[in-house]
Amino acid sequence: MKRIGTLALLVGLLILGGVATAMAASVEMPESVLMSAKGVKDYTPKKAEVTFNHASHMHIACQDCHHTVPQTYTFQSCMSEGCHDNAKDRTTANSLYNAFHTTKDTSKSCVGCHRDLKKQGQGDAPLACNSCHVK
Ligand code: HEC
Ligand code: HEC
Ligand code: HEC
Repeated sequence: MKRIGTLALLVGLLILGGVATAMAASVEMPESVLMSAKGVKDYTPKKAEVTFNHASHMHIACQDCHHTVPQTYTFQSCMSEGCHDNAKDRTTANSLYNAFHTTKDTSKSCVGCHRDLKKQGQGDAPLACNSCHVK
């Protein structure tokens, strides 16, 4: 269990709606997650899976990425059924591709945020396809 994660979540929820007492149970935050579109219905992934490390992203509010937490009080996988599970469309809100690569919603999207940082000359967040989709 990562204490810092629990604290950040509680603080975030306090700000959002004062429901912290109901959320006193702790959250198990995985150090890293292997992300793959393998589970998406009727779709064969074209790219290699992506390793996401929480450690590189701890300065970002949990809800920036886990944006449904204030409604559901649970952390779901991004590509869960009914979420970003549309592998055909590249622009809609449920589009799998859009969620991770859009340069419009830059605080949430992996590539969007990384590109912003690069533009500002900050840090070394990866932008090349193969630096995230490592073979
Ligand atoms: C930069 C984006 C980002 C931030 C910030 C972030 N996470 Fe995550 N988190 C992810 C991604 C991506 C996954 C993997 C989701 C998936 O499997 O589709 C994940 C997975 C998780 C999971 C496991 C969910 C599951 O599928 O079982 C938990 C719990 C979690 N994060 C908690 C936290 C907490 C608590 C914080 C704040 C301290 C936090 N995260 C901050 C992106 C983020
Ligand atoms: C709001 C900004 C933001 C978002 C959103 C974001 N990142 Fe990052 N990412 C960063 C920063 C900052 C770093 C650290 C750069 C450095 O080390 O200089 C980073 C580093 C990384 C790295 C290289 C270091 C490591 O941990 O392996 C990978 C890979 C990565 N991010 C993947 C992702 C993925 C996948 C997502 C989406 C699920 C994502 N990021 C979303 C800001 C972001
Ligand atoms: C900052 C990290 C990051 C970068 C850079 C990145 N992607 Fe992704 N991409 C992801 C994540 C996370 C997913 C969802 C997990 C998965 O399916 O691998 C994804 C999914 C995909 C998918 C849908 C799933 C599949 O395998 O068919 C395609 C296609 C894709 N990316 C293509 C690209 C291409 C082409 C580039 C370079 C122009 C690129 N990505 C750059 C993070 C990234």
